[in-house]
Amino acid sequence: MNNVLIERTVDFVKQELYGAEAGHDWFHIERVWKLSKKIAETETCNLEIVELSALLHDIADPKFHGGDETLALKISREFLEKENVPEESIDQVLFIIKNISFKNRDEVSENLPLELKIVQDADRLDAIGAIGIARTFNFGGFKNNLMYHPEIPPKLDMSKEEYKRNEGTTINHFYEKLLLLKDLMNTKKGKEIAEERHNFMLQFLDQFYKEWNV
Ligand code: ADP
Ligand code: NI
Repeated sequence: MNNVLIERTVDFVKQELYGAEAGHDWFHIERVWKLSKKIAETETCNLEIVELSALLHDIADPKFHGGDETLALKISREFLEKENVPEESIDQVLFIIKNISFKNRDEVSENLPLELKIVQDADRLDAIGAIGIARTFNFGGFKNNLMYHPEIPPKLDMSKEEYKRNEGTTINHFYEKLLLLKDLMNTKKGKEIAEERHNFMLQFLDQFYKEWNV
């Protein structure tokens, strides 16, 4: 295991994400990296690919780059080539970065590499539970969306384009994405961790409505 490469990747990502929105900043990456390692311990996988993908997966999120879905791949390839990472590993990491996203889930096939499944679970775990709630309200605020509107129902059949516009209320985002993630977990460890975080969100929503309807 090449620890120097991982350390250099950490430094690179910290530098690239300086000033990023709080839900997609270095600390999001750090949590996803740690969760990925935790899940990877329970699976037989290529840990270096898992770590590199976790560290680079949000290096240039299209949400914050005018919808450009190729920028993250370009930046990651340039970095990995500069670090003399073998071509085969670069391809594996780029495939994961490209296919990890929730909004692309219908387009990707069933036979995904285990390393992708691990990082995807870790990324999804950071989208739920207490941290998930905090990130979601932060992003909603960043977009100047309403927290909640009693007369705007969630849209469960959004196209990718509609989803990307993220114009709904933040509470609706729970029904449109966050509460769906538990059943989309790939690994046993991921499912276990998701269960507790999912239940915490349900509890949060109960309390939210109770206080709203005081
Ligand atoms: P991915 O980056 O995996 O495709 P998303 O684009 O759905 O996933 O967004 C990642 C995180 O950004 C979500 O978990 C959530 O915290 C926040 N987010 C995305 N869209 C919205 C939205 N419409 N309202 C509030 N938060 C959102
Ligand atoms: Ni992420």
